[in-house]
Amino acid sequence: MTIDVISKVNDINYPIIIERDSINNVSNYFNLKRKVLIITDSGVPSIYSNIVKEQCMEPFVYVILKGEASKNFDNYKKILEFMVNNKFTRTDAIVAIGGGVVGDLSGFVASSYMRGIDFYNIPTTLLSQVDSSIGGKCAIDFLGVKNNIGAFKNPNGVLIDSNTLETLEKREFNAGMAEVIKMSATSNKELFDYLKNNSNIDIDYVIKEALTIKKNVVEADPFEQNLRKVLNFGHTIGHAIESLSSGSLLHGECVALGMMYMVDENVKKDLETVLKKFDLPTSINVNKNEIIDLVKLDKKSSGSKVSIVYVKEIGSFEFRKIEINELKDYLK
Ligand SMILES: NC(=O)c1ccc[n+]([C@@H]2O[C@H](COP(=O)([O-])OP(=O)(O)OC[C@H]3O[C@@H](n4cnc5c(N)ncnc54)[C@H](O)[C@@H]3O)[C@@H](O)[C@H]2O)c1
Repeated sequence: MTIDVISKVNDINYPIIIERDSINNVSNYFNLKRKVLIITDSGVPSIYSNIVKEQCMEPFVYVILKGEASKNFDNYKKILEFMVNNKFTRTDAIVAIGGGVVGDLSGFVASSYMRGIDFYNIPTTLLSQVDSSIGGKCAIDFLGVKNNIGAFKNPNGVLIDSNTLETLEKREFNAGMAEVIKMSATSNKELFDYLKNNSNIDIDYVIKEALTIKKNVVEADPFEQNLRKVLNFGHTIGHAIESLSSGSLLHGECVALGMMYMVDENVKKDLETVLKKFDLPTSINVNKNEIIDLVKLDKKSSGSKVSIVYVKEIGSFEFRKIEINELKDYLK
């Protein structure tokens, strides 16, 4: 099936193809009859880039080291150099194959090379399939700050082949589920209940439902001025926990923990049940003062206040602007 995303960013509408085995026919969906730079990372099985490479007229493959640390200025510059040296023009294209790290870096390169060239995304982690591959945000981390240099650049197409998840580590898969649970908790009770009540989930259904939530949000608010902030549910405290964990916890695991502080008591039990089904953490010992200090540095803070997303009832949410110190009341 195909979901069309209508976007005001760069006035581009783009298709998201969600189909098993579609990677084998990617040239049916994307224009690969030109010079194509495939960007992937060392943790993504090379079979995926090989399959795509075979379908390109003039392919080049660029492999970065796996991990968040690769989303940096040095790699950004090296890829641009590679493109200049190989005489890429404005009519050529980039294809990202990998998770959010590859997608974010590739999108940013595509947004700036010759003021923007075509960009296709083949996300291969659950997180990137349900979340980061759509919405047009791309960025690198600079001087130790996450995602602080970037752009809004929509892909020309996204292709999701859930077969690629078969090689993904279970822990990474579960971290992606945290983002699905996040979206369902605020915006789709039916999906939340489906996750709660079924032991065998249909991952294609889950991806489609989660993407539909994200599509509706980014179409309504492409530049994150209001509604899009709902996607930050669990992220205010989650980001602070992520910084304190020094890499020992995955982003999705921190979001899982962060959500637990941002729900009413009656929601907590259900949320805990769903998170535990996917082996996600639901409690952690935190030092409230350390969390508060980190929230003060967060992009979601302004002055002494911070915006949070709070869930009183599954399938709904409210935005609250509170004094950062008041967060101590939530950190119980
Ligand atoms: N642009 C956005 O809107 C947005 C939204 C959410 C997150 N992000 C960004 O996404 C990034 C995190 O993305 P992620 O969770 O996908 O992590 P990731 O890209 O680091 O991938 C996780 C690991 O899985 C490996 N991998 C990828 N696909 C695989 C496969 N099919 N089989 C086996 N291994 C595979 C990778 O090599 C990597 O080691 C962060 O940088 C975050 O800032 C962006």
